[in-house]
Amino acid sequence: MGFDPWDAAFVADPYPAYRELREQGRAMWWEATGQWLVPHYADVSALLRDRRLGRTYLHRFSHEEFGRQAPPPEHEPFHVLNGNGLLDLEDPAHARVRRLVAKAFTPRTVKRLVPAVRRLAGELVGRLRADGGGDLLTVVAEPLPVAVIAELLGVPEADRGLLRPWSADICGMFELRPDEETARRAVRASVEFSAYLRGLITERRSRPGEDLISGLIAAHDEEGRLSEQEMISTCVLLLNAGHEATVNTTVNGWWALFRNPAQLAALRESHDPEKLSTAVDELMRYDTPLQMFERWVLDDIRIGDTVIPRGGEVALLFGSANRDPARFEGPDALDLVRADNPHLTFGAGIHYCLGAPLARRELEASFGALLADGVPPLRLVEEPRWRDGYVIRGLEELLVEF
Ligand code: HEM
Repeated sequence: MGFDPWDAAFVADPYPAYRELREQGRAMWWEATGQWLVPHYADVSALLRDRRLGRTYLHRFSHEEFGRQAPPPEHEPFHVLNGNGLLDLEDPAHARVRRLVAKAFTPRTVKRLVPAVRRLAGELVGRLRADGGGDLLTVVAEPLPVAVIAELLGVPEADRGLLRPWSADICGMFELRPDEETARRAVRASVEFSAYLRGLITERRSRPGEDLISGLIAAHDEEGRLSEQEMISTCVLLLNAGHEATVNTTVNGWWALFRNPAQLAALRESHDPEKLSTAVDELMRYDTPLQMFERWVLDDIRIGDTVIPRGGEVALLFGSANRDPARFEGPDALDLVRADNPHLTFGAGIHYCLGAPLARRELEASFGALLADGVPPLRLVEEPRWRDGYVIRGLEELLVEF
């Protein structure tokens, strides 16, 4: 089976196809999307840090100069929203905005949140237990990161149900070759989400709080360090990035644990926070929730014997890099005590995941609450199915019982 992100069997297990790709070479032209596939760890790691590549090219070239077509005007609300968020800015704008938000996500700031995150994880697991089981995704995996990031930004509890559907519609655009219906939904969600945040910003301006939105408003109003659009876009990015991958890591991780019962049993018995933390990192490596990130080639690069000129696009295969035997011993085995594990799941370089410390603490809290003393072993009810979608890869649901 080859590399085919539209094939359900590939999405369920892309790893054999990645192995074939790594054996074929270092950069392979892929006709289906007009990109270069990059499957090796060393190349993915180096290219993420290479300033000759960018998440956008618009800070240096127009669409025409870069040899690309501008998106249709009716898609503009999505592109304006997406293009002004931290992740799609390049320096110097990126450094300016990242400095403003970074303080809220340092390991030290995040450490202060841990007791509240643990408490919430305990409550959610309590709910699952009270029902004797259920869908781990909707009862535990999703509400935890949504509540945490909404709380950090200051989104009122009553509005939190809006976030997941908007995020899902916007994230549809990050899959390969999104169709017109996907684009329409993303545009609608972009318009609604932006209007919602504009309202929240107006309200918070009159009654500032301790939350991140109030902090960003101050940076915009008092110091002019952030445009209104950058503020809205970065809030949407934080709310979406702040839960999508964490939800999938939780359920994909549990599915991996169920397939490795001896290691699951050993982890349950260890009661050691260090071991839990090591195990969470291994689950992130073993089944990477974000399988691919793209970069534009801003100045000619060479990968092995292949020269990729300005205007090209590379698809960095994180899932493959994390299973590269040149970097990881026995890469296709889950090893919850793996000591040497420099996985690329959180990226590298200037866009390295801002939320990595928070994501790690949330995952430790939710896995920890389900593995805690006194909680009966979790059992799988039926084999889960994978959702459509390859870039953001996750299960439809994960039915469990105690
Ligand atoms: C397991 C969970 C998570 C994974 C696997 C993950 C992964 C990633 C990756 C790979 C990138 C870089 C993308 C690129 O280079 O193109 C990134 C960026 C980012 N992530 Fe995460 N993330 C997770 C959780 C979070 C959380 C909880 C937050 C909450 C704040 C967050 C916020 C961000 C932001 C703001 C960026 C953009 C950083 C920048 O451009 O400077 N992420 N994430």
